[in-house]
Amino acid sequence: MKIGIAGTGRMGSAIAQRLIECGHTVTVWNRTPDRTKAAQAAGARLAATASALVQESETLVTILTNAAAIDAVYRGPQGLLSGGATGRLFIEMSTVRPETERELAVEIERWGAQMVECPVGGTVGPAREGKLIGLVGADDAAYERARPLLEKMCRRIERCGPVGAGATMKLAVNLPLAVFWEAFGEAMALAQPLGIEPARLVDLFADTSGGTNVLRNRAALVARALAGEDTGPATFDLDSMRKDLRTMLEEGRSRGFDLPVAASTLAAFDEASRAGQGGIDGVRIPAYVVTRSVGR
Ligand SMILES: NC(=O)c1ccc[n+]([C@@H]2O[C@H](COP(=O)([O-])OP(=O)(O)OC[C@H]3O[C@@H](n4cnc5c(N)ncnc54)[C@H](OP(=O)(O)O)[C@@H]3O)[C@@H](O)[C@H]2O)c1
Repeated sequence: MKIGIAGTGRMGSAIAQRLIECGHTVTVWNRTPDRTKAAQAAGARLAATASALVQESETLVTILTNAAAIDAVYRGPQGLLSGGATGRLFIEMSTVRPETERELAVEIERWGAQMVECPVGGTVGPAREGKLIGLVGADDAAYERARPLLEKMCRRIERCGPVGAGATMKLAVNLPLAVFWEAFGEAMALAQPLGIEPARLVDLFADTSGGTNVLRNRAALVARALAGEDTGPATFDLDSMRKDLRTMLEEGRSRGFDLPVAASTLAAFDEASRAGQGGIDGVRIPAYVVTRSVGR
């Protein structure tokens, strides 16, 4: 199948490589040209504009930072919807508010095209291996059309309802994840006087009710960070979590309620970002919280 990917950031590049490996013809476009290199090295073709990408593809995949990025990539002067999208299938995978996805779906349908939203759980490694968790919002026809491709990207596909439902579920899933990194850091600060080595502490937490899946999956890296060691490039960084937390709070407010724990986590992450920590991976947040709380 001819697939176009608009947005070759960390996730878009990993998904491009995965789909090439699965035998698809993949063409890419990205606002910053340099960031298409990894996908091109894996065999992707390059389109000059997002509009040209649509002409060369049957199915378009987007995984972009936020609603502003979706606006620019779809509705910009040479954007995905600047002409000739009829008959295409769009799979929109960014983490944004449900309303953003619903508005986009209406526009895409006006072009005689179909849209499936599929924000994902899992980071760059699972994207590269086709082991994401897809949180789908779509009507039956669009979903059936997208399913074979979603199955190449995801180990689990959870159909949550119509377009907008996937975004709602994704924001809900990411709330305890973001809070966990802060909470686990605070727990590590409490445990710090015991002087127990990080690997043992992380192993203990991962085996108790104080642990989570993300701790179990990323235990080695969290322990390395707590020991002051390098953990490699960030895959899901603190600034991305701030973006998600802000999006959750906006969504709650629009529906008439507050999210106090998410709000205080955002305040802590805002402070961390001001302290120059915005680019650190989630696995490093607990180590930062220990330093912030008790110093080293
Ligand atoms: N990283 C993860 O582990 C992970 C996991 C699940 C979900 N997500 C979600 O997936 C999405 C992408 O995350 P990522 O980590 O891959 O981010 P990333 O590496 O920062 O990539 C973001 C992409 O969005 C593009 N973009 C941003 N603003 C734009 C604009 N105004 N106009 C055009 N393009 C724009 C970027 O283009 P440039 O290169 O030109 O900046 C890039 O292609 C986010 O919604 C994130 O929350 C991420």
